[in-house]
Amino acid sequence: MTNKYMYFIANWKMFGNLRTLKSLDKVVSFVKKFKKSKIKLIYCPPATLICPMVKKLKLTSINVGGQNCHESYNYGAYTGQINSKMLKDMGAKYVILGHSENRKLGENDYLINTKIKSSIKSGLKIIFCIGETLKQKRKKMTKKILVNQINKGLNKINNKKNILIAYEPIWAIGSGLIPKESDLHETIGFIKNKIRGAKVLYGGSVSPKNINQLKKIDNLDGFLIGGASQVSNNFIDIIKKTFN
Ligand code: PGA
Repeated sequence: MTNKYMYFIANWKMFGNLRTLKSLDKVVSFVKKFKKSKIKLIYCPPATLICPMVKKLKLTSINVGGQNCHESYNYGAYTGQINSKMLKDMGAKYVILGHSENRKLGENDYLINTKIKSSIKSGLKIIFCIGETLKQKRKKMTKKILVNQINKGLNKINNKKNILIAYEPIWAIGSGLIPKESDLHETIGFIKNKIRGAKVLYGGSVSPKNINQLKKIDNLDGFLIGGASQVSNNFIDIIKKTFN
């Protein structure tokens, strides 16, 4: 894994405020000293922090992304919503789409597909999340579920070069559990086989405690990190350990 170009994407979820931005200073100085060519760091804060974060990280190699957006490419009367053009306008370069926490709120594959298309049109890069529930895993349905999410989510999208796939088993998110090494290796290989040339990340309880295990999975292109990314020391620790 040491010679690969790795993504570390921080998903702050509904956490953080203006004062929290100070915690990025540590990460910025760490990244400056690190061999930049090896890592790609992306922060996805809540929408309220995108602008100040873009400003703060302007002179660094760290990019900023949104955590979701409305499906409409056009502006419209959608109270409380933000579309992909607005994210782009704020300086975001990426957007997380299809996260299970939003699927749980009712987002279906068709809606996610529309969001991906409109975000590509706006010039954003996509972090497309897929993953199975524990029940589906127990029934050995993981591959079937992933194929379905991929086929529907990426329907009629020919150019997938700006789409990163984040495999996030729902049962692993925020639970402290991670998949078995052999299972994860197989699943990542399966996704890569399905979407040729795709970069595939893993997400779900990634932490300084389990990164030594996870980094052994040699077909991974990086990590989508929730809880542990909100504490700069933990985030830095994960990156350091990945390359040690
Ligand atoms: P977690 O979240 O690292 O806190 O499990 C990951 C995610 O939901 O993207």
